[in-house]
Amino acid sequence: MEKFVVTGGNKLFGEVSISGAKNAAVAIIPAVILCDEPCTIENIPNISDVALIGRILQSMGAEIKRIDKSTLYIDPTHITTYCATNEMVRGMRASYYLLGALLGKYKKAKVALPGGCDFGVRPIDQHLKGFALLGADHDLINGAIIDLDCHGKLTGNHIYLDVVSVGATMNIMLAAVKAEGQTVIENAAKEPHIVDLANFLNSMGANIKGAGTDVIKIRGVEYLHGVTYSIIPDQIEAGTYMCAAAATRGAITVNNVTPKHLDSITAKLREMGVEVTEYDESVKIDATKRPLSKCNIKTMPHPGFPTDCQPQFAALLTTVPGTSIINENVWDNRYQYINEFLRMGAQISVESKLAIIEGGKELTAAPVKATDLRAGVALIIAALCAKGTTEISNIQFIERGYEDIVEKFSALGANIKKVYFRDDTDAKMNA
Ligand code: EPU
Repeated sequence: MEKFVVTGGNKLFGEVSISGAKNAAVAIIPAVILCDEPCTIENIPNISDVALIGRILQSMGAEIKRIDKSTLYIDPTHITTYCATNEMVRGMRASYYLLGALLGKYKKAKVALPGGCDFGVRPIDQHLKGFALLGADHDLINGAIIDLDCHGKLTGNHIYLDVVSVGATMNIMLAAVKAEGQTVIENAAKEPHIVDLANFLNSMGANIKGAGTDVIKIRGVEYLHGVTYSIIPDQIEAGTYMCAAAATRGAITVNNVTPKHLDSITAKLREMGVEVTEYDESVKIDATKRPLSKCNIKTMPHPGFPTDCQPQFAALLTTVPGTSIINENVWDNRYQYINEFLRMGAQISVESKLAIIEGGKELTAAPVKATDLRAGVALIIAALCAKGTTEISNIQFIERGYEDIVEKFSALGANIKKVYFRDDTDAKMNA
């Protein structure tokens, strides 16, 4: 068993470099299936979700070579199957992108239902509605495998999404790239990773217009050629370190970011009294100059405040005197982690979509569990602010999405270690 052991009290200072965006990488890697030649993808984050999607593609026949830590060469031309049904597929949420990519390429797809972080029901009805409008029927085999078939032909169509969904927007885009005629996705999601996927597909020869707005038009093409493409920086990883610096009242520079992608996070930090200075590819956060004030947050699809930074901001707001209210407006059940915060002495109550935080009470160390990826990293932030040494278990969730997290936090002055436990009483420190 592995845990993170974090001793609180150190303010974060220094510089951190942000890796490529997880939620772009987990779509762009399966998107290579659509390509008729090999591709080289740069700025890939070295995280377990990426390793897993790589292994899934390899199991289907793709050749994958790691050129360096953040560059993968992927040759999809030897993929011999439209099926991805093994256990690995269930290990991550984003394996649903295999549906769109395989359907686009082979006009058929058989993919195990996705797993991933569990924060309540995570439907994919909008993905399936989009595929149906392109001409693909679906069956659910034994409640565990989705079988899509368009009988040899995908045809472009108008698709209105009933909810703004990142996954459905990207999945439909993947299938529509090789559909006959034009597909229009209305009420599309606008996250930076949607633009990144569209840019990647266009660089291979696809014809996608409007990504980043709520109407995306895709004209199908027959052939996609190989490219070298660099993934955008991870907006949420950047937001996480910005938040951690503010929570410890430190001052850091966050490098390799696109400041525009961080607008909603920057705005909230400024509202609280944190000084944020933007440069071309970095932002500087300074929380040393004045006391921070409480604030309210409502999560929304992009360009609103990202749900994936909600738990990290909850950790920050526990350190700020006064009552702050979070309104989680994207997911129905993304507050499981609050129980872990309560164990550390935080004063938070949850009423439906709202978390009401009475901030400014001292947090104290406790054994806590990551309940999902962002919840886990929020516990690290809470632990950095707490009195004493906190042990965080279930860290496999955190390692799904954060590259070199111990090294990055340590370089900023945090006291954090990864520790291997044989059992709860016998700890062996990581040398
Ligand atoms: N929804 C539906 N039907 C659908 C799809 C979604 O009702 O067919 C609902 C969901 O239940 C949710 C809302 O629409 O209430 C938004 O879901 P969305 O489809 O946008 O989420 P997702 O594509 O499954 C991605 C990220 C999540 C992030 C959300 C929202 C990936 C792999 N995951 O999930 O990231 O929270 O968008 O921005 O891109 C994370 O990185 O920690 C993470 C959970």
